[in-house]
Amino acid sequence: MATKAELEGQLTVVAGFENPQVALEQYPTPPELAAHVVHVADLNGDIEDRTVVDLGTGTGMLALGAALRGPKRVVGVELDRDALETARENRPRVGTRTDIHWVQADATHAPLCPDGPTTVVMNPPFGAQQGHEHADRAFLETAADVADVSYSVHNAGSREFVEAFAADNGGEVTHAFRATFELDRQFDFHEADRKELETEVYRIVWTD
Ligand SMILES: C[S@@+](CC[C@H](N)C(=O)[O-])C[C@H]1O[C@@H](n2cnc3c(N)ncnc32)[C@H](O)[C@@H]1O
Repeated sequence: MATKAELEGQLTVVAGFENPQVALEQYPTPPELAAHVVHVADLNGDIEDRTVVDLGTGTGMLALGAALRGPKRVVGVELDRDALETARENRPRVGTRTDIHWVQADATHAPLCPDGPTTVVMNPPFGAQQGHEHADRAFLETAADVADVSYSVHNAGSREFVEAFAADNGGEVTHAFRATFELDRQFDFHEADRKELETEVYRIVWTD
């Protein structure tokens, strides 16, 4: 298995959003965080020979990271056609031969019924900026429906919400870690050129 640092290096070629949309919270998951999530998932046996579904795949960063670790197939679901085009263009840059399906769809009503062991990886919109706290809830609902295990990135302070959601929906949080990263200025309302974002990542095992 390649190291986490090697995976991060392979993901630095992933191009960002061409015209990021505020309403969709289109900021890229940094290679460092994507590599961390995928590497931990791989160490837990949650990538190899499984179907990996990236909900809100955007530039394809998480999907492509997973594709480099020997899954059976990868499915990237994204609402925005332009973002999906960017994800498609990112594939040859990363250079994976894994079977990848790019699906333009609403991840909260995704037309997915994967067969066999399925892992969701996702960095969904948080909703905090638009005053829609826990916009990530609907993404977790999809993860609970299609996956037996999921890795999701949330904003800091989500632990109580995520644990309660999992408990109410046949899931259990088995791992949690914090990840702070620097985000390049993405939208006009960002005052500084770089912004520090504090996030939490949860692994949830879904049994129902
Ligand atoms: C925080 S970004 C993460 C993107 C991705 N992980 C990356 O690194 O490029 C959230 C993504 O979710 C997408 N999105 C938002 N609402 C969605 C929905 N209902 N269904 C599918 N995708 C959605 C956005 O367009 C955006 O690409």
